[in-house]
Amino acid sequence: MQRVTIAEIYRNSAELGEKTITAAGWVRTIRTFSAVGFAELNDGSCFGSLQVVLDENNLPNFDAITACHVGASLCVTGILKLTPDARQPFELQAQSVSIEGASASDYPLQKKRHSVEFLRSVGHLRGRTNLFGAAFRIRSEAAFAIHSFFHERGFYYVHTPIITVSDCEGAGEMFRVTTLNPTDKNAPCPDFSSDFFEKPAFLTVSGQLEGEMMAQSLGKIYTFGPTFRAERSYTQRHAAEFWMIEPEMAFADLTDDRHLAEALVRSVVRHCLTACEADLAFLDQRVSPGLLERLMVCERTEFAHISYTEAIESLKKCGAAFQYPVFWGCDLQTEHERYLSETLCRRPVFVTDYPKEIKAFYMRLNDDEKTVAAMDCLVPGIGELIGGSQREERLPQLLRRMEECGLNPEDYTRYLDLRRYGSTRHAGFGLGFERLIMYLTGIANIRDVLPFPRTTGSAE
Ligand code: 4AD
Ligand code: MG
Repeated sequence: MQRVTIAEIYRNSAELGEKTITAAGWVRTIRTFSAVGFAELNDGSCFGSLQVVLDENNLPNFDAITACHVGASLCVTGILKLTPDARQPFELQAQSVSIEGASASDYPLQKKRHSVEFLRSVGHLRGRTNLFGAAFRIRSEAAFAIHSFFHERGFYYVHTPIITVSDCEGAGEMFRVTTLNPTDKNAPCPDFSSDFFEKPAFLTVSGQLEGEMMAQSLGKIYTFGPTFRAERSYTQRHAAEFWMIEPEMAFADLTDDRHLAEALVRSVVRHCLTACEADLAFLDQRVSPGLLERLMVCERTEFAHISYTEAIESLKKCGAAFQYPVFWGCDLQTEHERYLSETLCRRPVFVTDYPKEIKAFYMRLNDDEKTVAAMDCLVPGIGELIGGSQREERLPQLLRRMEECGLNPEDYTRYLDLRRYGSTRHAGFGLGFERLIMYLTGIANIRDVLPFPRTTGSAE
C-alpha cells in the first residue's frame, strides 16, 4: 500500500492538494449527518489528525463505515482538499474506504480526557491519546538528537553488557540473574558455583565501568541503554528499568565533563523545540503551563554552577522549611535540589565537589581529601537529571576508596588493572533518559514517559 502518513500530509500539503492519496489510521471520532459522515483519523505520525469526509453517494459501504466504533482502523483513498478557511487546513474526501480492523464498542479511550492513572491501566492503547503520543514522539526525537550530538563530536557508540558481576554504584540495588531454582529446599544458601555464570550475576545499574574501559581504547565513547535498579522507592522519578546515556572521555577533567553535559542538554532541547513543535505546544497548554518558556530559557542561557559547599550555605540561609535537615555532609534531597534550580538559580545548575562519603567509590579525590570531583546537574521541576564525575585514575587512591566503601577489589580486577597500563585522566556522566523526557514534556511522573514502565510492584 502506498500510504502517506498524516505527518507527511502536514509537511507537504501544498504539493498534495487536489491529488489522490491513501492515508490510514485509527478513528478518534466519527459523526454522521444523514448522507455525510466525518471521521477524524490519527495515525500516530504526528500530533495532528486528518479529517475524512464520507459521502454516501461515493461509498457503497457507507453504512458499515459510519457504524464503526471509535478506535477502528481505516484505510482511505481520496482527494486531498485544502481548506485554508476551515479549522483544519485540509480534509480527505474519501473515494474508497476499507475497514482494516473494527473496534469493539467497549473501546477504553472514549472520553476526550482520561486521568493518567486510568490510562496506565490500558498501556497497550494509551499511545493513541494526545498526551502519550506526544510523550513517545518526543522520546524518539530526543534519542535521535542524542545520537547525533555524540556522532558530530566524534564519540563512538559502544554497547556495554546488561548482565554484570560488579555493582557500579556500590549501592547494592541490583536485580539478580540466575538459573538456580529458588524452590530447591536442599540449597537454602545458594551455591553460585553451580549457577549459569558460576558466580553471582546481576542486571547492570550502569554501563560506566565498561564504558571507562572502552574510553581507554577509543578515547571518547557513549552508551545508551537500559539500566536496572531494585530501589524500593515509590517516587515519581524512579523506575526499576530506565535508560541511561553515559559518555566517557579519556584525557578529560570535571570541567570538560560539565561543558559536555551542558552542551548535550541544550542541544537536545534545541532539537525538540523545532522537531516537536505541535506536541510541545499541546503539552504547554494542557499539561505544564510555562513549559515552552522553561525550555527556551534552558536553550538560551548558560547553566549555573555552584559547589556543594556553596549549595549547603545557600540552603541554610534561605529560610525555607525543608523536611530534611541541611548540614555539610548531608545528601541533597529532591526538595533541596529543586530549591537550588527553581528558586536560587531559576535554571539548570551544576553542583560540584561533594563530600566523598555520599558519592560512589570511583570519583576522583580532590586535594582537600574531603570532597570528590563529582557533579550533579539539577533542573527545575525534576531535581537531579545528571550524575557524573572525574574518575579516580590513581591506583593507590582508588584501592583506598574501595576499602573505605567496603568493596572487594577482586570483584573489580579489570577495572583496577586499567589503572596500571597507561591510565589517563578521564571523566563521564550518566543522564537519566526518562528524567530528560520529563523535563522536555513537563510530565510529572516517570511512569508516563516510559512506554511500558517497570516500578516496584508493577511490570505489566
Ligand atoms: O547518579 P547516578 O546513579 O550515576 C551513575 O549511575 C553513574 N555511573 C553515571 C556515570 O557517571 N556514568 O545515575 C545517573 C542518572 C541520574 O542522574 C538520574 O537521572 C538517573 O540516572 N537515574 C534514574 N532514573 C530513573 N529511575 C531511577 N531509579 C534512576 N536512578 C538514577
Ligand atoms: Mg546520582
